[in-house]
Amino acid sequence: METHVSHVNEEDSEDPGAAPYGNFINYYSFNPPENRLSLIPQTLLQNIGLDSERVLILDVGCNSGDLSVALYKHLLHEEASVSDFSKREVYLLGFDLDQDLILRAQNSNPLPQNIQFIPLDITDGAKSQAVLESHLGRFGCPRFHLCTCFAVTMWVHLNHGDEAFLSLLSRLASLCEFLLLEAQPWKCYRSAARRLRKLGRSDFDHFKTLEIRGDMAAHAREHLEKQCSMDMVQSFGNTSWDRSLLLFKRR
Ligand SMILES: C[S@@+](CC[C@H](N)C(=O)[O-])C[C@H]1O[C@@H](n2cnc3c(N)ncnc32)[C@H](O)[C@@H]1O
Repeated sequence: METHVSHVNEEDSEDPGAAPYGNFINYYSFNPPENRLSLIPQTLLQNIGLDSERVLILDVGCNSGDLSVALYKHLLHEEASVSDFSKREVYLLGFDLDQDLILRAQNSNPLPQNIQFIPLDITDGAKSQAVLESHLGRFGCPRFHLCTCFAVTMWVHLNHGDEAFLSLLSRLASLCEFLLLEAQPWKCYRSAARRLRKLGRSDFDHFKTLEIRGDMAAHAREHLEKQCSMDMVQSFGNTSWDRSLLLFKRR
């Protein structure tokens, strides 16, 4: 898969190198990990009761892994050195559909004993289920303790439609005990679709027919609470791009 270069943020309509799946090659130069991490408490694992046991974290759509690694270090803040990290029973699996980005994530992974990156498309139901189940099986766990999904929902929604947006949320809910979700707001859809149309990608025209629109965080919450047996337990506020970070817990 070709990885696209972009120099401006996801909402900018002049973006010269729109990435059809959000697979921006230099994403972290315009949206550094700190933008999200500053809202997430370092004590999150302890706060949700995941401090002592083995903890499995899944990061969906991890791009080149910068936020995954920074989040891992953020959550294990009390560990002083790299060697201490590997003693902890906290494992993070990050995946992304873009193989080039995953290669970059693998090559720059500072904690390969605890953090792993693999290529995978969450919309490929059968394959992603098999791969993730086999990963969980190796640890003898039925689910990930924490799943993070930052800035991915819009790309699945735009590329695959309403059903896929809801299936993604159901899928995430089925995979974890806690879900930390950053859903892009509707204004991002408009600029992303406009950008992609400018590039002649008429396959995004069905964006106009999407019925799930408006307050995307509220739609996600409604589906997770009504259809997926999850409750929203906390909102960590909004990022500088006006996106909310919501924490859900399996009932
Ligand atoms: C805007 S980036 C966000 C990256 C990262 N989660 C963050 O917030 O820093 C969206 C990422 O989702 C990935 N992505 C989009 N659709 C995907 C899918 N169906 N399966 C896996 N990854 C996907 C893209 O390749 C891209 O790297």
